[in-house]
Amino acid sequence: MTDDKFRQISYSRTTLTELMIPAYANFGGKIHGGILLSLMDKVAYACASKHAGTYCVTVSVENVDFLQPVEVGEMVSMSASVNYVGNSSMVIGIKVIAENFKEGTVKHTNTSYFTMVAKDDHGKPTKVPGLIIDTKEEARRFVEAMKRKELHGPYKEQLRMVRTMLEENVNHGILKDERCKLSFAI
Ligand SMILES: CC(C)(COP(=O)(O)OP(=O)(O)OC[C@H]1O[C@@H](n2cnc3c(N)ncnc32)[C@H](O)[C@@H]1OP(=O)(O)O)[C@@H](O)C(=O)NCCC(=O)NCCS
Repeated sequence: MTDDKFRQISYSRTTLTELMIPAYANFGGKIHGGILLSLMDKVAYACASKHAGTYCVTVSVENVDFLQPVEVGEMVSMSASVNYVGNSSMVIGIKVIAENFKEGTVKHTNTSYFTMVAKDDHGKPTKVPGLIIDTKEEARRFVEAMKRKELHGPYKEQLRMVRTMLEENVNHGILKDERCKLSFAI
């Protein structure tokens, strides 16, 4: 892949639409979150692989908050586009909507971000084409992904410090307002 290869976001934009059948439901009659995650992974793969022109793997998944339940009989559409590219990584933004034909409603259930990495034939991360940004909205998404990535470093470091601290220092004080009981002595 040459350094000067760029692709438009529209080139790889992908939508996956699927009818939610009873086999996808949980015991409460709503669609399993895992079914939706699996479909999101598929559409993220298709979008990333088309942009990269290679095999890709899922590296991380962010912002998976299901805001509203999806019902059996609804038509779910997942629209994926490349929001950001690094060297071998791509952030794929996925907007999920569920359409209820009977009620004539459309609800936005979540927008999530999948980081995918392009691999070469030897399984090594490989460079992906850059992005041609055509609109202000696309530029906003690109910068938002940059900022999210910048925030990860300090977040991971803080989490590591908290873990180290807690290894030596879980005490009754920190748990006093929580809904748990210690059945052992600290
Ligand atoms: C993630 C993986 C590709 C990293 O490989 P590596 O040889 O360590 O390569 P690098 O450290 O150069 O990382 C490659 C890219 O992944 C990105 N990356 C690595 N870990 C990441 C994480 N936790 N979150 C987001 N991006 C990550 C790096 O920032 C880098 O991006 P860039 O090339 O755009 O700068 C490798 O660990 C892997 O293949 N993991 C398994 C993925 C998989 O099988 N997924 C399917 C789920 S079962």
